[in-house]
Amino acid sequence: MNHRERARELALEYLRRGSFPEWFEALYASSGGNADLIPWADGRPNPCLVEWMTEPGPPAPGSRALVVACGLGDDAEFLAARGLEVTAFDLSPSAIAWCRRRFPDTRVDYLAADLLDPPPQWRRRFSLVFEAYTLQSLPPDMLERAVARIADFVATDGRLLVVTRAREENEAGDGPPWPLTRAALHAFVAEGLREVDFRDFLDRREDPPVRRFLALYERCGGG
Ligand SMILES: C[S@@+](CC[C@H](N)C(=O)[O-])C[C@H]1O[C@@H](n2cnc3c(N)ncnc32)[C@H](O)[C@@H]1O
Repeated sequence: MNHRERARELALEYLRRGSFPEWFEALYASSGGNADLIPWADGRPNPCLVEWMTEPGPPAPGSRALVVACGLGDDAEFLAARGLEVTAFDLSPSAIAWCRRRFPDTRVDYLAADLLDPPPQWRRRFSLVFEAYTLQSLPPDMLERAVARIADFVATDGRLLVVTRAREENEAGDGPPWPLTRAALHAFVAEGLREVDFRDFLDRREDPPVRRFLALYERCGGG
């Protein structure tokens, strides 16, 4: 059994016990600081985010950004290096402590927080919200609440960039992870955001390649 399979087994065990969210902390805390044991940690910022930041109209330096469920912090550090004022959070206190150890001189404000019960002052506060691979890591019954909370972080005229594994409606979504359907992502529109871009692509950086969606939303003035 490789590390990825072992992590999945652990997740399924917590799911069966009815204490799913605790498995993230269990995984980070039991890894002994070895990032090879964290399936999604690859020691570099998300390539979709890096590419997106090279496209026209990136957020201006000094804009406020929020990295949702930041894991080991590579995306947050990347955005901070681009001059953004970054807040990054994760449910797992061990992950947050790990970020602070990895980046002792960081400008990122790292904190442990629950996406489903976030600090109220984050409401509509961020010009850029970045979410990668968290929604797909949550059991489907948590999805609706998670989408609503993430949408709520986006300031007026702010943007939300989402990257996730993708599937068709009629494909089995046995997780973890639970790839999202296009309809599931459309919930961001129901939460008051406007879809600005939607890409459905095969990510060949993975072996085997993985189907993903990249979606960009914005909150229009008065929305
Ligand atoms: C699949 S990992 C992705 C991490 C990071 N976004 C990345 O791309 O490397 C999912 C992350 O979501 C975090 N997480 C799960 N449930 C959460 C919640 N309710 N609130 C905040 N973070 C959560 C986990 O601790 C984990 O770090």
